[in-house]
Amino acid sequence: MVGLKSAIGNRQSAIAHGLVPRAEARSRLLRAYAGHGLRSLFCWLRYWHANVPGIEAYVPAGGTILDLGCGHGVLTNYIALRGPRRHVIGLDLSEQRIAIARAAAPPNAEFQVQDVFQLSTPPCQTIIVADVLHHLRSLEEGDELLALCCKSLPDNGLLIVKEIGQRPWWKFQLTRPVDTVFYRGRVFFRSPAQFAALFDRLGLQATFVPLHSWRPLCHIMYLCRKRPPPL
Ligand SMILES: C[S@@+](CC[C@H](N)C(=O)[O-])C[C@H]1O[C@@H](n2cnc3c(N)ncnc32)[C@H](O)[C@@H]1O
Repeated sequence: MVGLKSAIGNRQSAIAHGLVPRAEARSRLLRAYAGHGLRSLFCWLRYWHANVPGIEAYVPAGGTILDLGCGHGVLTNYIALRGPRRHVIGLDLSEQRIAIARAAAPPNAEFQVQDVFQLSTPPCQTIIVADVLHHLRSLEEGDELLALCCKSLPDNGLLIVKEIGQRPWWKFQLTRPVDTVFYRGRVFFRSPAQFAALFDRLGLQATFVPLHSWRPLCHIMYLCRKRPPPL
C-alpha cells in the first residue's frame, strides 16, 4: 500500500479551502442531534468513538461525496457542516436512521432510503463506505459493493473505506460484541492483508490509516485511489 496525504491536513490549508473550524462544526453537529433520547446519545458517542473528524480530514473540500450505508448520518452531516462547498449524499436501508439524519442535515447534505446494491450512482469524486462492509450478508457482498464503487468513480477518484482493525487484540475483542449488540446479525471482518489483496484486485491504490489511538474500539481507514488504466 502506498502513502496518500490528507487533502486538508493542516489548519492553514483548511482555512484556505473554506472549511468551517472543527469546534464550530462539532458543536453544530451535536446540537443538531439533540432531542432523540437514547439515539442522540448513540449519535454523540458515534462522533467521538469512531473519530469522525479523523475521517473527515481526508475528504476533499468540495465536490459531490456519496456516503453509502450512512446510518444516522453523523459522519455525512459532519462532512457537510465542515465543508460548505461539499454536496454530500447519504444512503441507507433504514427509514428510521434516515429520518434522524435528515432532521439534522444542513442544506448541503441530503439523504435517501436506498439499497446501495440497487443504486445508479450520481457522478461523484468521492465515495465513503464506513462500517458497512462487515455488516453485509457475506464477504462476497462486500467485494460486490466495492466493485460497484470502483465502477462509479472516475480515474483518480477517492474511495474511503472505514473498517475495524484487528490490532491491538483486546480492542478487536471489544469491538465484536459492541457491533453485534447495536447492529444485530453476523459480522464479517477482514484482516488488513485481505483488504490489501482486494483493493489490488479492484485496481485501487490504498493506504492504511489507524483512527482509534486512545479510543476503545479498533477503528481503521483505507484511503483508496482508483488507478487509471495502463496506456
Ligand atoms: C454500522 S452502520 C454504519 C453507519 C454509518 N456509516 C456510520 O459510520 O455511522 C451500518 C449501516 O449500513 C446500512 N446498510 C447495510 N446494508 C445496506 C444496504 N444494502 N443498503 C444500504 N444501507 C445498508 C445499515 O442499515 C446500517 O445503518
